Amino acid sequence: MQNLFIKTYGCQMNEYDSERMADLLAQSHGLTLVDDPQQADVLLLNTCSIREKAEDKVFTQLGFWRPFKEKRPEVIIGVGGCVASQEGAKLRRRAPYVDLVFGPQTLHRLPDLLDACLAERHPQVDVEFPVLEKFDRLPQRPGRDGATAFLTIQEGCDKFCTFCVVPHTRGREYSRSMPDILREARSLVDQGVREITLLGQNVNAYRGGTGLIGVGGLAELLERLSRIPGLLRLRYTTSHPSNLDDELIAAHGSIDILAPHLHLPVQSGSDRILRRMHRKHNVEQYLDKIARLRAARPGIQISSDFIVGFPGETEADFAATMDLIEAVRFDQSFSFKYSQRPNTPALKLKDDVPEAEKDARLAILQGRINGLAQGYAQALVGTRQAVLITGPSRRDPQEVTGKTACNRSVNLPGSSAWAGQMLDIEITAALPNSLRGRLAQSDPTAHRLAV
Ligand code: SAH
Ligand code: SF4
Ligand code: F3S
Repeated sequence: MQNLFIKTYGCQMNEYDSERMADLLAQSHGLTLVDDPQQADVLLLNTCSIREKAEDKVFTQLGFWRPFKEKRPEVIIGVGGCVASQEGAKLRRRAPYVDLVFGPQTLHRLPDLLDACLAERHPQVDVEFPVLEKFDRLPQRPGRDGATAFLTIQEGCDKFCTFCVVPHTRGREYSRSMPDILREARSLVDQGVREITLLGQNVNAYRGGTGLIGVGGLAELLERLSRIPGLLRLRYTTSHPSNLDDELIAAHGSIDILAPHLHLPVQSGSDRILRRMHRKHNVEQYLDKIARLRAARPGIQISSDFIVGFPGETEADFAATMDLIEAVRFDQSFSFKYSQRPNTPALKLKDDVPEAEKDARLAILQGRINGLAQGYAQALVGTRQAVLITGPSRRDPQEVTGKTACNRSVNLPGSSAWAGQMLDIEITAALPNSLRGRLAQSDPTAHRLAV
């Protein structure tokens, strides 16, 4: 057993988890990640169940892997993540060739599950929520050559929005302690990471032990992280509007390495629908928080998630969402058609907006959001931006790719030796999904922004 292949669906927290699964199995069983699933001895699928479509992908993907096991019966197939958590042992009814089923909170037990499966020649299922164990049992992160990294600081969700599976698949809210997070962040920066994105399903509900007596919130954690020498940029995602408190708003004004960009999902611009979604805030409160954020950090860009066609959503409710979009002028956002999810309270509401109507609303909303995103991108043309160079461009080896503070990709002619540097870049064009740029002056060292 040598080779490991992991396929990841879903959110950035799953990406973080997949990386940690690879770290664990490298340490315990000497497994090496490979790019070709046919070469793998252990195949893991890290799944997402947030929307119907995400879940459907799981069984399609497992169907592709099945013949590998038919050819080489010693191949181990494992399923983790939110579908595994939701389905547990039931998952094997639909895919009996699956050997391991583990949840987001039991991935640290993977080495033991794998050993048990090999020893007993019997499938293993473990989808409990012993969240307190997880982070204590994960190994130190090994060196990687990237300029950006994710760092999970908080897990689970206690909000129970009526449409959402997350509280059911990831369990209750749990925050890691500040010293633990600071240690992980420092080791990432020592390895060359320059931008860290803090992750949590409800990241701004973070309340972690400070290492002294007492607990602190996200604002305090950001402040402490911002003092790590060599760290150039911080972000956090995903936030809930009701946890965006005064302290955190103030942090956006006082912490200069905190990116001037916030993803703050609102889902709907209708108070009636927000109530039915159990979102715990109304439109006025949301607008008030945005206004205060913009006062604290002028120019901050806001992106959001939207759901169209939630049960009972009328034309007027949808129009209210479009009005909110005009009022806030969101930057690049994500939008989805409502789909019913297992175990969620909204199952009791009739899914009564016809599919064609959901499609039409989604097209209108996405058209407007894309127009706004393009407008913001166009406005960057001719300006100079601090761009963190992340590595060579995927399309053209003569070019490098980087990220602006507002989280847009920029491609420019350059050397991959620039990776990890924050450079002063003039934006020359806005394409539909990325920007083009050039070094503001020919000598990159002259324009390297302070580390
Ligand atoms: N914690 C974040 C969202 C996490 S889920 C928040 O509070 O906003 C990511 C996004 O998936 C949600 O913002 C929502 O827009 C979408 N989503 C969640 N459940 C959905 C469902 N049942 N149907 C359609 N979209 C859904
Ligand atoms: Fe889901 Fe709501 Fe929790 Fe976000 S806040 S993860 S939408 S329940
Ligand atoms: Fe999906 Fe679970 Fe993340 S449902 S979005 S993988 S928390």
